[in-house]
Amino acid sequence: MEKKRSNFSNKLGFIMAAAGSAVGLGNLWRFPYLAAKHGGGIFLLLYLILAVTLGFTLMVSEISLGRKTRLSVIGAYEALDKRFSFLGYLASVVPFIIVPYYCVIGGWVLKYLTVFVSNQAAAAASDDYFTQFITQAGSPLVCFLIFAGCTVFIVLWGVSNGIERVSKILMPVLVVLSIVIAVFVLMQPGAMEGVTYYLRPDFSRFSATTLLAAMGQLFYSMSLSMGIMITYGSYMKSEDNMEQSVRHIELFDTGIAFLAGLMIVPSVFIFSGGDESALGKGPSLMFVTLPKVFDAMAFGTVIGVVFFLLVLFAALTSSISLTEACVSIVQDKTKCSRRTGCLSVAAIMALLGIPTCLGFGVLDFISPFHMSLLDFFDFVSNSILMPVIALLTCIFIGYVVKPKAIIEEVELNGKFKMKTFYTIMIRWIAPVCLVAILIFSVMETLGYIKV
Ligand code: TRP
Repeated sequence: MEKKRSNFSNKLGFIMAAAGSAVGLGNLWRFPYLAAKHGGGIFLLLYLILAVTLGFTLMVSEISLGRKTRLSVIGAYEALDKRFSFLGYLASVVPFIIVPYYCVIGGWVLKYLTVFVSNQAAAAASDDYFTQFITQAGSPLVCFLIFAGCTVFIVLWGVSNGIERVSKILMPVLVVLSIVIAVFVLMQPGAMEGVTYYLRPDFSRFSATTLLAAMGQLFYSMSLSMGIMITYGSYMKSEDNMEQSVRHIELFDTGIAFLAGLMIVPSVFIFSGGDESALGKGPSLMFVTLPKVFDAMAFGTVIGVVFFLLVLFAALTSSISLTEACVSIVQDKTKCSRRTGCLSVAAIMALLGIPTCLGFGVLDFISPFHMSLLDFFDFVSNSILMPVIALLTCIFIGYVVKPKAIIEEVELNGKFKMKTFYTIMIRWIAPVCLVAILIFSVMETLGYIKV
């Protein structure tokens, strides 16, 4: 017998839980480096447009699927149509790919925390500190193992509630500190050039790849197309106003990402001495520029310690939710104990995480499609699997379940103001755009069209 599902106690509880797991490295680390790399303003603009259109549509759909079926991802698709149960499985694969490399970056954050605690801020601000660190074998590996170990430990002992509670206090502090750092950055000479780059869209930089990058980031940051929102939805009360909750989650998540970009992108301009290639640093960007900012600030070491501590918390709560999701998928399917579930997920984390960690140094000869292993896992999950899952979900809802069923679910409480828009989006605009973006970006990647 299925036990009665527990519900979130109120709407705020739901929003906080969803936003709490949504805000993580995606906002603080991933968004700024993508924005810097893909032309600044144009990336930001595309991201915002996608968030209120595609992001909104998909989030409403996923939460409704969960709330309607009261099942988590695999069960939800299966319950509505047997032919689509494969989609549940496909979506379930995503968190397993993300969590190992998420923990690798969590390890980097941990390393920078220890660097600032041990008063080596000046060393961390030098140009090649980061590269020297990740190309070693020992140190990144130890940091990864500690971070992943803490995650598994917390999930195994079921103490995530305590962590969630602490993080609810710490997240507002993170927001305030980010504002302080952003204001400091903006007051530096040379910052305005960076602000312009970040805020003013340069339409000549528009390309399918930029659009795909913005879309992948949207899915990643809002935990879409990976079954997570379906599971959250299955715990949401029918009385809660869904349209509004979705808007709030989006606003919160996007606000933090925007702020992180405002902190990091102009810093690149200030501290790179006009070297534009610094914008393309990719995954290392946050770790290369922020130490320079802290080095230039009064009390920089203290601020660095507090900042990396807060980021560590944000990363930890997200990696806990991701791991929880993986464990419950394993448990649902194999009916094993929680302990066995946890340990198998830990094994996968080690299996994929250790090579990812060493992929910048001793294993750097493994470079699928000329990417590092970390970039590769990130690319496969965000730029391939998630858009494909999103496309199939649109087809599933638009033509199999029918938008009407979702609209009814949303209207269990309150009007669904955007329902006409929603229907057109899910049946026509979203699938057509998704197919076009996928085709163009594959062609661009393979070199058939030049940008
Ligand atoms: N959204 C999280 C972030 O911005 C990352 C993430 C993706 C996540 N999927 C998740 C977190 C599922 C918790 C649960 O960092």
